[in-house]
Amino acid sequence: METATPTTRKKTVFSGIQPSGTSTLGNYIGALRNFKLLEDEFQCLYCVVDMHAITVRQEASKLRQRCLELAAIYIASGLDPKKNIIYCQSHVPAHAELSWILNCYTYMGELSRMTQFKDKSAKHQDNINAGLFTYPALMAADILLFQTDLVPIGADQKQHLELTRDIAQRFNNVHGNVFTVPEGYFGKVGSRVMSLQEPERKMSKSDPEDTFINLLDPPDVIRRKIKRAVTDSDGEIRFDTENKPGVSNLLSIIAALEYRSIEDITAELSGKGYGALKDRVTDCVIQTLEPLQTEHKKLMADKPYLHSILDENAEKASMLASRTLSKVRRKVGFAEHGK
Ligand code: TRP
Repeated sequence: METATPTTRKKTVFSGIQPSGTSTLGNYIGALRNFKLLEDEFQCLYCVVDMHAITVRQEASKLRQRCLELAAIYIASGLDPKKNIIYCQSHVPAHAELSWILNCYTYMGELSRMTQFKDKSAKHQDNINAGLFTYPALMAADILLFQTDLVPIGADQKQHLELTRDIAQRFNNVHGNVFTVPEGYFGKVGSRVMSLQEPERKMSKSDPEDTFINLLDPPDVIRRKIKRAVTDSDGEIRFDTENKPGVSNLLSIIAALEYRSIEDITAELSGKGYGALKDRVTDCVIQTLEPLQTEHKKLMADKPYLHSILDENAEKASMLASRTLSKVRRKVGFAEHGK
């Protein structure tokens, strides 16, 4: 019997994480574990964006190690590397190629309005390089290469996605329908994890060590960091982000990791002390991260396997990318070759 050919293609999801520093509990709750939920419905590409990482100075041997580590984190978070295309950006030259072309469709004025550029150039005044400036054109290339429909990102990347949409539309206006104009895909609200020391700010791996939980932190380190987390002095366990940001953050972490409501968790803990709250968060974080860490360790101990996954997936990504890229080359007027 003939099998029916599907009439609708799966929508494409693309996201990237920089292999600079290790991932945090915030990355896990806000991004990584949600990726798993998309793997059956969508064609997903998850990229280790090492080319973006070198817009600030990196130590080569560390960067190399972190690329593998991040790939292993993707897989250890539950993503099936046979279903999801997990790969390194630098392994697929099409990213660089399209990025150059898109640079020629992106205005200086647009790039200079990007807040990430302003922040990073303030932070790295000794190295305000052109790559840092054109970073968003590379990100646009990442996304547009695959005719991406949905881009899971945090709020801090919204401006880059808007620019990607503008570049896509501008290119399409000149050359016809070449690129799918992508949409952002935002996780549920309330899943933002805040710094353990300054709970008014987002948990970030570029802040000091004791403000965030690294996904690979051993249990005793997790215990110590949470023990030292900032709370407040009124001693009441209540969810109130404005007046009690520290306590609220700890409550949200439990709620997020156990997929329960904040009300539920607050009811469970009300009347108890902050010590009990912290013990509860600690146990919950350790329990969640334990299987991830075990899997990560296993993967990192088998580099040939990791490399084979990355090679295979880079191959798949290249194939997909080449469809868009050859169309783009023709549209902009590059002469044919190799026929
Ligand atoms: N700029 C993103 C960040 O710093 C990382 C990134 C690069 C990305 N390319 C992307 C995210 C494409 C989504 C889609 O977080």
